[in-house]
Amino acid sequence: MRIETERLILRPFLEADAADVYAYLKEPAVNCFACMKLCSLEEAREEMKKRAGETEYYFAIVLKETGKVIGEIDAYPETGEPHADENAVRDTFSPCWMLHADYCGKGYAFEAAHAFFAYLFEHKGARRIYACTEDDNLSSQRLCERLGMRREGVFLEFVSFVNHPDGTPKYENTVQYAILKKEWERQTSPCPASGS
Ligand SMILES: CC(C)(COP(=O)(O)OP(=O)(O)OC[C@H]1O[C@@H](n2cnc3c(N)ncnc32)[C@H](O)[C@@H]1OP(=O)(O)O)[C@@H](O)C(=O)NCCC(=O)NCCS
Repeated sequence: MRIETERLILRPFLEADAADVYAYLKEPAVNCFACMKLCSLEEAREEMKKRAGETEYYFAIVLKETGKVIGEIDAYPETGEPHADENAVRDTFSPCWMLHADYCGKGYAFEAAHAFFAYLFEHKGARRIYACTEDDNLSSQRLCERLGMRREGVFLEFVSFVNHPDGTPKYENTVQYAILKKEWERQTSPCPASGS
């Protein structure tokens, strides 16, 4: 699958993307991506081999102008309810998004996420998309709001991704946002013609 926007291409990862991905994953910008840290270019190459088979839900964000991979976005189908059985409909998605720091603040994340949401709602059966972010991650929260997501709540000391220097878990306060397909359609549909 390949999704095109004005300035970007979203496409599956290639082995040749290793150096670009290593550039932003050698020091993950936020604690929730600490487990994705890549320690060497060789590790990045191995990671690209694993990602190469992902063609539906995991995309490199590529700058059209240069062909450089500037970040990534992914979300997989989930059952919406915590106690759903394994046959329940998987119509819920929770995206992860990340850009190389040099490319933040230019509207690229919004451009990529907007196209990705349209793809999930229109082609992958999404009914609800929710996003979780730490309460101090204001750029991610602004992105959720630009996408028209509702702030659903804050979960205090909800999850731990890293430890304090003394080895005890550092718990994060997590903010959750969401948007339903009907809300997405309302905000993206053209205004009805006025007048008689
Ligand atoms: C979260 C993240 C993807 C957001 O990226 P971003 O570039 O800030 O988001 P956007 O694409 O919406 O860009 C919006 C900013 O670009 C600015 N901008 C500049 N040129 C623009 C243009 N042509 N079009 C739109 N916006 C533009 C906007 O004014 C806005 O600035 P502001 O946030 O200071 O108000 C990015 O900060 C990131 O990768 N962070 C690290 C990983 C992370 O936190 N992931 C989420 C974990 S929960």
